[in-house]
Amino acid sequence: MKRVAILISGGGSNMVRLVESMTGDHPARSCLVLANDPTAGGLAKAAALGVPTATVDHRTYPDRAAFEVALQAELDAARPDMLALAGFMRILTEPFVRQWQGRMLNIHPSLLPKYPGLHTHARAIEAGDAEAGCTVHEVIPDIDAGPILGQARVPVRPDDTPDRLAARVLAQEHRLYPAVLRRFAAGRRERLDLPPVDAMD
Ligand code: GRF
Repeated sequence: MKRVAILISGGGSNMVRLVESMTGDHPARSCLVLANDPTAGGLAKAAALGVPTATVDHRTYPDRAAFEVALQAELDAARPDMLALAGFMRILTEPFVRQWQGRMLNIHPSLLPKYPGLHTHARAIEAGDAEAGCTVHEVIPDIDAGPILGQARVPVRPDDTPDRLAARVLAQEHRLYPAVLRRFAAGRRERLDLPPVDAMD
């Protein structure tokens, strides 16, 4: 049984779906939900789901390296086989990423390689894209750049605002991430492109 630590910064809606998916004959179970912010709403949701939680508040450390030493100490205690970044908003240094490379996933709210970084939905609307979506990828030191493991697409609507598009994409994140995590935990690496769902608003 693979042990998965999920890293969050906020509400943790992706974390909830991941935890809820790891049941029955799923080859993995969540062993820790770790937040870099003590006020992250996802911490209470994880506790309610019976998952051990920890907080490593990045603001209480002088630099990224010191933060990551504390992060790794929590991970050493929980003994995960792999990490799933889910709404985790801190940039990790190359040494930390190298230590987990090949065993660390992230979900990003765009169709990578388009729109790495922030404000992805506003950028897609601004560019007049016909579609947007989300990507699950392996994490490498370059931001939002690792091997793509799965994508899900949504149409961009003429009246879309970034918030409306974000909500539609988030619903697809909740489908995509559990599906990719299950395959990854089973040692499968082939790319998964979810069929579009006419998710009416
Ligand atoms: C979402 O916009 C998601 O695209 C990104 O982080 C944001 C919050 O996700 N990964 P969550 O609700 O905390 O999982």
